[in-house]
Amino acid sequence: EKGGWSSFMRKEVAEQPEAVAKTLLGRVVDDAVVIPELASFGDEELRGIRRITIIACGTASYAGMVAKYAIEQWARVPVEIELSHEFRYREPVIDDHTLVVSISQSGETMDTLMAVKYAREQGARTISICNTQGATIPRESDAVVYTHAGPEVAVASTKAFVAQIAALYLFGLHLARVRGTMSAEAIAEQLHELQAVPAKLELVLAESEKVAQLAHWMADTRSVLFLGRHVGYPIALEGALKLKELAYIHAEGFAAGELKHGPIALIEPGQPVFVVVPSPRGSATLHPKVVSNIQEIRARGARVIAIAEAGDAAVLPFADEVLRIPLAAPLFEPLLAVVPLQIFAMELSQAKGLDVDQPRNLAKSVTVE
Ligand code: F6R
Repeated sequence: EKGGWSSFMRKEVAEQPEAVAKTLLGRVVDDAVVIPELASFGDEELRGIRRITIIACGTASYAGMVAKYAIEQWARVPVEIELSHEFRYREPVIDDHTLVVSISQSGETMDTLMAVKYAREQGARTISICNTQGATIPRESDAVVYTHAGPEVAVASTKAFVAQIAALYLFGLHLARVRGTMSAEAIAEQLHELQAVPAKLELVLAESEKVAQLAHWMADTRSVLFLGRHVGYPIALEGALKLKELAYIHAEGFAAGELKHGPIALIEPGQPVFVVVPSPRGSATLHPKVVSNIQEIRARGARVIAIAEAGDAAVLPFADEVLRIPLAAPLFEPLLAVVPLQIFAMELSQAKGLDVDQPRNLAKSVTVE
C-alpha cells in the first residue's frame, strides 16, 4: 500500500535508506561479513574462482557494473558484466572456474533465468542476487543472497538498485577476505563506509525539493545527456534510463572519457547535461578530468547540472546547478549520486502529468523475451 504517499515510486525512493540498512542487517558481525546463504560455497571453491560473470538486465545490470569496480578492486578477480539476453545467445566462455552472479529484483526475468540455466549447463556455479523470496531465478541457482528492499511496486526500480549494490559489496568484501586480498582492517573500513550509507541517503533525500524544482523548470526539455566516470559511469546510464522510462524524454548516458570520441558533437547551446563528479579527495586523479570535461561542454553552451560532493568548489564556476551529496569513499558515491537522478526523472514525469508508477509500454517483470 502507498501509505499516504502520492505514488509507489515516491514511497520507494524514500525507503532507500531502509532498503540498504535491511540488506546489511545481520550480515556484518564484528566488522566482518557473514553470509550464511553462501554456506554451500566453501572457501576453497571461492579461492579457485578465476572469473566472475554478472548477468542482468536494465537497472540491475547497472548495479552489476558498479559492483564490477568494487569486486575487482577488493578481491582482485576479473569481473565481466553482460546483459542476459546477449549472454545467452552467443557462446560465452564459461567453465567450472567461472562464477556466474545474476541480479534480478523480481527473480522472474525470462532472459536472466535462461542465462542462469545456460551457465549451469556449462558447469558454472551460480549465485542469485534477488529481492523476491522464493522466485524462480533463486530456485534455479546454487545460492541466493536476498536483497531486503521490501516489495517494489513501481515499474521503475529504485530501492532494489541500492540494495543490489549493497548486497554485491558484501559479497565482494567476503570474497576479499577468503582470497586474502585485503586485511581485516581494510575490510572493516569498507564495511563502516557501507554502514554509513543509510544515514547519508537520508541527507540526500532531504535535498529532494531542489531537484523537484529543477525538474519543474525543465518540463519542456526534449533531450538530456548524462556523464560519469568510473563508478559514476553506470550512474549516468541509470539516470538516462530513468528519464527515458518515466518522462519519455530522449536521454543518453556516456562515460565522460568518451566525449571527445563522438558525443561532444551533440553539445549545442542550451543542451542540459548532468555530470556525476567524483570526489576531489577520494578521486584526486579523476576529479580534475571530469571538471575539465565540464569546462569543455560549458564552452559549447551546455547547461551543466553537476552532482558533486559537499564542499567541492571546483565545479562552481562552470555548473549552472549543483546538487550536493555527502562525503563518501569513491566506491560508495554511486549509492548517493543515483538518488537525485531518480528524483529528477520522477518529478519530470509528474510535471508532464504522466503515470510515474506505470509508465507506458512497460511491465514490472519481464517474463517473456
Ligand atoms: C528500470 C527497470 C528495469 C529492470 C529490469 C530487470 O527502472 O526497472 O530495467 O531493472 O527489467 O528486472 P529484474 O531486476 O526484475 O530482473
